[in-house]
Amino acid sequence: MKFADWAYKIPESEIRRLLRFNVKYYYAGGKPGVLPTEIIAKILKKIGEDQLKNIEDGREQEVADIYNYGVTAGTDFFRKTLAERLRREGIETNWEQLMITTGSQQAIYLVLDTLIDPGDVIITTRPAYLGFLGPAGKLGANIITVPTDLDGIVPEYVENAIELSEKEFGKKPKMIYLVPDGDNPKGTNLPAKRRQALFDVAEAQDVLIIEDSPYRNIHFKGEKVFPIKSLDKENQRVVYLGSTTKEAMAARVGYALAPEELRENMIKGKGFLDLCTPLIMQRILDEYYRNYIDDMLPKINSTYEARAKAMIEAMDATFPAGERTDPKGGFFIWWESENKNFNAKEFLERVAMPNEVLFVPGEAFYPLGGMAYLPDSNSLQPTVAETHELRLSYSFKDEENIREGIPLLGKLLTEELG
Ligand SMILES: Cc1ncc(COP(=O)(O)O)c(C=O)c1O
Repeated sequence: MKFADWAYKIPESEIRRLLRFNVKYYYAGGKPGVLPTEIIAKILKKIGEDQLKNIEDGREQEVADIYNYGVTAGTDFFRKTLAERLRREGIETNWEQLMITTGSQQAIYLVLDTLIDPGDVIITTRPAYLGFLGPAGKLGANIITVPTDLDGIVPEYVENAIELSEKEFGKKPKMIYLVPDGDNPKGTNLPAKRRQALFDVAEAQDVLIIEDSPYRNIHFKGEKVFPIKSLDKENQRVVYLGSTTKEAMAARVGYALAPEELRENMIKGKGFLDLCTPLIMQRILDEYYRNYIDDMLPKINSTYEARAKAMIEAMDATFPAGERTDPKGGFFIWWESENKNFNAKEFLERVAMPNEVLFVPGEAFYPLGGMAYLPDSNSLQPTVAETHELRLSYSFKDEENIREGIPLLGKLLTEELG
């Protein structure tokens, strides 16, 4: 069988590969580890009882409708609930501007598929979420990565990279993609000043920002900063992607708020992918968002905070020389060895996995091909994936497990690196 070119060019995502392994010390994928199981069970019971009552009362059609196809953009009721929550965050929107997607992963794909022709340019962070890099590569984008520090992306570098894009590729980038809250993979939170500066750069240069924020509500330290989308009063400059996965469950429901014409085309694209996101999931989540989430979030966040703290303490006590990030929220900590010759991927396979420890090697978060913006020379150079970095997730395993597993990883790394 001869496949389309991309099937040969784009490898399987490292995370999808690692999700298959069931090890004792699992710090790889961004799997939610604090699920509101009891609440969801209550919601299911209530929905079931309501449905039985409707059937008894001769209103079976109402029940049947939730198990049928729905409008591609999503149900009115859930879009209204989400729009109300976004307004609380300072995002001016009404429910008709929102679309529901099958996970925010689908929204990422739809934004890219709607905007990117082969050869178009995208700017993103270095490192970047691999679930963005994969589809961007599949669609033939030229990816320019911009370095990040312990606070995330540097707007001035983005501005320089936009100018260099015109020289290198003869065109401006079509979009800037970033995860400003609880970044995946670095676990950083972009400060307010940089959000404003990045928005100003995008306005001045006429480039769209994709603000991917599935970890927005997983926040446990310091003040929460406004979403970049809240600066976009005309709904013209920023696409905001939200998800229910990290704060509710992996029911595969996300949402997107995009400029009108873009949204219409994304809905058209969604029609080609899955026609609609299951209505029953929207119904369950609507109940959760209307009645439970505000009580649940502090509990969820304090558990993640304790896990992050356990991981940080164990890393600081047992890891060899290197630098780590200090998450204020999200699921991840990023660690860079001082030894640039360290190969985290090779170490994972040879040492960590036989010891039941799993993390994601940093290499996975670099694009295949593409260009890297280098501030020292203010130039674009071919991307070189760093091998001495790794991403640890504290979301899935409990504190006790982390207090065992991370010192074990620290010991193994120290034996390796001295
Ligand atoms: C940055 C980022 N965006 C999008 C997603 C996809 O989330 P979902 O499709 O579950 O909404 C993830 C999941 O890990 C993520 O980390």
